[in-house]
Amino acid sequence: MNKQIKTHSGWSEYYECVTASCRPPRELFFRAVNQFKKSGLVDPVAVDLGCGIGIESLELLRQGWRVLSVDSQQEALDYLNKNMSDEVKDHSQTFCGLFEEVDFPSCDFIWAGNSLPFCSADQLHTVLTRIARALKPGGRFAGDFFAPRHAWAGNKNINTFSTNELKTAFPTLEAEYWTVGEGEAQATLYDVVHWHVHTIVMRKPSPAPYGIESKA
Ligand SMILES: C[S@@+](CC[C@H](N)C(=O)[O-])C[C@H]1O[C@@H](n2cnc3c(N)ncnc32)[C@H](O)[C@@H]1O
Repeated sequence: MNKQIKTHSGWSEYYECVTASCRPPRELFFRAVNQFKKSGLVDPVAVDLGCGIGIESLELLRQGWRVLSVDSQQEALDYLNKNMSDEVKDHSQTFCGLFEEVDFPSCDFIWAGNSLPFCSADQLHTVLTRIARALKPGGRFAGDFFAPRHAWAGNKNINTFSTNELKTAFPTLEAEYWTVGEGEAQATLYDVVHWHVHTIVMRKPSPAPYGIESKA
């Protein structure tokens, strides 16, 4: 049985729940961000899509990234701004609007933690194409997509992907990390739901340096 889910105007309880949990940035997020440390980026740029209260945006800012934090809810961006230290403010930009309305900057990293499943189904393909296009060569996308047995699958506001569908969703990116998790999880202060989720890191290949021929 599908439960009633948060609508675009009903995220307050979720923000309270995340605030109360004092959760650290996600492991998947660190997995992707730490990969950049190996190549040593200069003036790195990230987009946090559906940033919520901004836990990952704040960590990126703390690590010296420039961050565009996007959320349809001004309330979410208010939490983010309230928790931001003055030293990083000039590296932060926010956009209050829908994923399909974002003017993506050319960037190194796009993080979408549990947010794209809530993108309008008729806009999702466009948004995924823009994500892939915005990434610089060597850039990464990391985030979550609901899988078919998720409790909210079938709700008209929710996108789900089979593994095969998700494999074709980013034709220009290569999977660097991919797991499918399933189990019961706390969704809000009061709701535990069945969770079935792809967590992925995708990388945009860098062209081979001049003089190095790729082997067909
Ligand atoms: C489940 S919360 C995740 C928040 C945060 N990334 C986290 O992991 O705590 C999803 C967030 O995406 C935002 N969101 C959902 N659909 C959106 C859309 N179509 N455009 C922009 N933001 C959206 C919501 O307002 C909410 O803050």
